[in-house]
Amino acid sequence: MKRTEIRTILRDPAALAGRILRADGWVKSARDSGRVGFIDLNDGSCFDSLQVLLDAESLAAYAEAVKLGPGSSLSVTGRLQPSPAGGQSHELKAETVKIYAACPADYPLQKKRHSLDFLRSLPHLRARTNVFAAVFRARSLLALAVHRFMEENGFVYVHTPIITTSDCEGAGEMFRVTTLDLERLPRNAAGAVDFGADFFGREANLTVSGQMEAEALAHAFGKVYTFGPAFRAENSNTARHAAEFWMIEPEIAFADLNDDMNLAEALVKYLARDLLTRAEPELAFLDRFVANGLIARLEALTQAEFARITYTEAVARLAPRNASFRYEARWGADLQTEHERCLTEQILGGPVFVTDYPREIKAFYMRANDDGRTVAAMDLLLPGVGELIGGSQREERPELLSARLQELGLTAADYEWYLDLRRFGGAPHAGFGLGFERAVMCMTGTANIRDVLPFPRAAGAAARREV
Ligand code: 4AD
Ligand code: MG
Repeated sequence: MKRTEIRTILRDPAALAGRILRADGWVKSARDSGRVGFIDLNDGSCFDSLQVLLDAESLAAYAEAVKLGPGSSLSVTGRLQPSPAGGQSHELKAETVKIYAACPADYPLQKKRHSLDFLRSLPHLRARTNVFAAVFRARSLLALAVHRFMEENGFVYVHTPIITTSDCEGAGEMFRVTTLDLERLPRNAAGAVDFGADFFGREANLTVSGQMEAEALAHAFGKVYTFGPAFRAENSNTARHAAEFWMIEPEIAFADLNDDMNLAEALVKYLARDLLTRAEPELAFLDRFVANGLIARLEALTQAEFARITYTEAVARLAPRNASFRYEARWGADLQTEHERCLTEQILGGPVFVTDYPREIKAFYMRANDDGRTVAAMDLLLPGVGELIGGSQREERPELLSARLQELGLTAADYEWYLDLRRFGGAPHAGFGLGFERAVMCMTGTANIRDVLPFPRAAGAAARREV
């Protein structure tokens, strides 16, 4: 008999009532009350489980079935019928039960609440718990929502390379890609490692951002975006940094910083709205057990007016509170997480774009402002997560860009192609990077980035049990 997915059964049980159906899945819980027993069966097709009714008298496999532990896999056939008890409108009255695998008693996910810390040690199993089932499905829905938003707004989806030879952010936090024998490194006359002998004939790394390639493609399609993995060898063991994370990077031609912020705001609101309509059971669960008030916060986010203040203004508003910070807020220094959170959570009490940062603390490609001290950069800060987005208008004037590269001692030859984009039909353009994990954290109320990545990679993580 053909299997019916549980989501199909639960979507409209009344329509299937009276029919004989087959459902396969895993036991969430089983209980025996003597004459009848119950199994909550989940097949992953939706958040909720199907109640299976076992009747001691009529079901041959009764004794075996009621004592199945959580995690056991089975196939049930039976008739879907109205359920007299509360909690569910219908239940499947089992006629046959075929056990695929009974889960032994040492299965680590028993029917009780486990700490997220404990579950982090079981990355291969934790998606079976309600919390991770909700978070990872929300992640899937949010990824699809990104594509839908972009498609509705006329963007072309481009794939940028994962192996690169340039350091987009200039922060030197890259993972090297090499096939050289580390025990016997080839050396040149000066004694330095000879990367000419390496696979690509030069130094190569995992990308920290697809921006520069996206800029090239934006000069062909006008509006493009990438959505792919980025890698950063930052040794910052925080709850908001991962060594491997996903980033959405739109790049738009004939656009300035305001257009960039308008796009960012529209995207964030779209994601929140989309999740509210598509992830009802997941959000209800998370709101109740993980992050109280989550749904109300998401609804507020869709309505919020995102504030926009300059970096200079932000520092002026933070400085009077310097006594309460570990690092003082002062013009010229980058904003620390504590400053960002204070701005968005206390001073403005909502999402805020901070714009026009000092040029010294931002990347080489950002467009110089007329004041000669700042660049057309923007960071979007959100309560709870801090920096969600970093973006800028790009320097489209070839002479200014060349001068900046030179000033920073970057090798001109490496950026020749990037300068070509300005020389050949250069246009004002802007873009940003939205950290996908941070968006998932914010929209599921998850506090640690390791809990929104199915298999997180972070500094030192290889020492722990890992998949
Ligand atoms: O601010 P970032 O470094 O900006 C860029 O990479 C630009 N090239 C983007 C662009 O303009 N196309 O990174 C963008 C976002 C951050 O705001 C943050 O949300 C996320 O990426 N991010 C990280 N997320 C998780 N772990 C890390 N280690 C992250 N580093 C950045
Ligand atoms: Mg940034």
